Amino acid sequence: MPLPGRVIAFVNFKGGVGKTANVVNIGACLAKYHGKKVLIVDLDAQCNSSLWLMKPEELEKHNQDLHRCSYQIFRDKIVGSSVFDFVKAVVRGVPRREYTLIANLDLLPSAVEMAMIEDQIHQIKSVSAFTILYQALKPYFGAYDYVFLDCPPNLYTVSKNALFAAQYCVVPYIPDYLSLSGFLVLADMIDEFYNRLSGQMTVRRRPQIAAFIINHFVRQRNVFETGVNEFEIMINRLKENGKIHPRAQCLHPYIRFNVHVAESTNEHLPVILHKEDSMGAMDYADLTQNFIRHFEVTL
Ligand SMILES: Nc1ncnc2c1ncn2[C@@H]1O[C@H](COP(=O)(O)OP(=O)(O)O)[C@@H](O)[C@H]1O
Ligand SMILES: [Mg+2]
Repeated sequence: MPLPGRVIAFVNFKGGVGKTANVVNIGACLAKYHGKKVLIVDLDAQCNSSLWLMKPEELEKHNQDLHRCSYQIFRDKIVGSSVFDFVKAVVRGVPRREYTLIANLDLLPSAVEMAMIEDQIHQIKSVSAFTILYQALKPYFGAYDYVFLDCPPNLYTVSKNALFAAQYCVVPYIPDYLSLSGFLVLADMIDEFYNRLSGQMTVRRRPQIAAFIINHFVRQRNVFETGVNEFEIMINRLKENGKIHPRAQCLHPYIRFNVHVAESTNEHLPVILHKEDSMGAMDYADLTQNFIRHFEVTL
């Protein structure tokens, strides 16, 4: 039985590859240009998607009550409480201004306290340590067309919770030489994790890596062209081995490095609201069309 919404984990144990940039900017394009209802779940102690879509003082105020963030979902399981309340925790219609900018984009913020979860979670020994997020959020998935899980830059327990909760994984990738071997390790680790937990997923299709998003692409540079070509060869090999989804692909266009994407973080706005005619905004708008086709038609 498929989940009602498409729950997608954006995952890569490398930092700075565009997990958060993709979650925020594809999420914003889906909501603003295509009327999709989108929930972003920030799972990173660095709170980057929260701080991209909320001003620091807004986030600080929201998180004065830690029950209102993704941290509390894990905390509840560790201490045996049940105080997380999704309806109170979710911030509706981000980024918020005096008037509505994007009505359909919701955020479940993170908190720096997430950094402590990894040490504490080992008190929970069984595989149930990986199902915490899914159990807490599954009643709410149905209200959304897309739920994006913004993972921390590692594959520890919180990320594994995202892998378990997701229907699909998206791997953001910067196509330079050193990333390729890292990606192979990542694909193996995700495959192994799903093999290990397949018994827990009997009612759901086994999630798999279903798409790649190339970021920081510079067309005139051979290193990136070569990097993408080698990456595509690797993807085909992994498909043959059944380690990723048989119709997984690198979505087009590749996202080019664009200063307006970086700048938009300071403004706490997705790039389409910060500078709609920028290369970054156009890349993300085009990519989102292909993203919808991929997830709603191809897969
Ligand atoms: N296409 C791009 N052009 C310019 N800057 C980008 C682009 N994509 C991401 N960035 C910037 O690079 C930094 C790292 O990206 P981020 O999405 O936070 O990576 P991750 O979540 O994988 O750690 C962020 O500060 C972001 O603003
Ligand atoms: Mg991030």
